[in-house]
Amino acid sequence: MKIAVFAGDGIGPEVTREAVRVIEALGLDDLELLHGDVGGAAWRKHGHPLPPETLETARRAEAILFGAVGDFECDKLERHLRPEQAILGLRKELGLFANLRPARMFPGMEDASALRPEVAGAIDLLIVRELNGDVYFGEKGIRTLDDGRRQGWDMMSYAEDEVRRIAHVAFKAAQGRRKKLCSVDKANVLETSQVWRDTVIEVAKDYPDVELSHMYVDNAAMQLVRNPGQFDVIVTGNLFGDILSDQASMCVGSIGLLASAALAEGTMGLYEPIHGSAPDIAGQDKANPMATILSAAMLLRHSFGRETEAQRIEAAVARALADGIRGADLGGSHGTVAIGDAVLERL
Ligand code: IPM
Ligand code: MG
Repeated sequence: MKIAVFAGDGIGPEVTREAVRVIEALGLDDLELLHGDVGGAAWRKHGHPLPPETLETARRAEAILFGAVGDFECDKLERHLRPEQAILGLRKELGLFANLRPARMFPGMEDASALRPEVAGAIDLLIVRELNGDVYFGEKGIRTLDDGRRQGWDMMSYAEDEVRRIAHVAFKAAQGRRKKLCSVDKANVLETSQVWRDTVIEVAKDYPDVELSHMYVDNAAMQLVRNPGQFDVIVTGNLFGDILSDQASMCVGSIGLLASAALAEGTMGLYEPIHGSAPDIAGQDKANPMATILSAAMLLRHSFGRETEAQRIEAAVARALADGIRGADLGGSHGTVAIGDAVLERL
């Protein structure tokens, strides 16, 4: 089992350290951990946020555990040298097109939600976000207009085949859950979304057992806080998925609890917490490692078919939360290492 660990910036190293401890505690045979630099840390050492040696390590691995990237000091660099390019580059280079971002209420955590407990308690949804296309990877630029004004522009597009493959992932995910799929777009305004919607409708013919609905993204944002319990699986494009998944995390209670998987065709995947590098609290033992630990569970499930171990980790985290183990993100006082210890004890 070759797992590449890319810890990255800010709290990335602290939270991945705890997740690695959890993986190691499972005592799996032939576990091999590879390491590589990404983000601002890599830029400092190698002059690039995703150096060739890191990419090569990624290609040698069967799965990647990723911390976080982002560093204020790098915000003035040219865009291709900014830390974010590490994660965007890995997604593109490795064809990690399917982003799974589950958001589920942990029993007893309802009070931590930004929503009323009775509304929040019903959350059990999965956002399937397309990760290789959209306005993220279109042509972009800054030009000067004839009258001297600067104009920024980013090209948004989706081709049918790009929509089709993410739609299949989403329908299959729905089949394994409550069999409801909501496709989120902005087809009332965007041609990109018209192609998106037409294609999803076409793919739906292969999945007669899944109930498909469509929602404009503005309405979806509203429904997510009004009645998040109505959603089972949501499928959407790169930009809308980025926004809605952060929103869903706060509905659950803390962005410090949400894990994600970015999958390619086959079993290769990159697993990371949804949260960022939080440089303001880096190195202070304040970050909640649970999202990364839960990402390790997704790694074992999706890349190695280790469902039993994945569930053991998820149960240990749920148990720790039920026992009152809370990081600062949840108003508690448990530090990063103490939370890792608590999960390990329950494992
Ligand atoms: C995410 C992040 C990234 C994204 C950033 C770091 C480029 O916000 O994974 O949601 O926009 O995809
Ligand atoms: Mg995001």
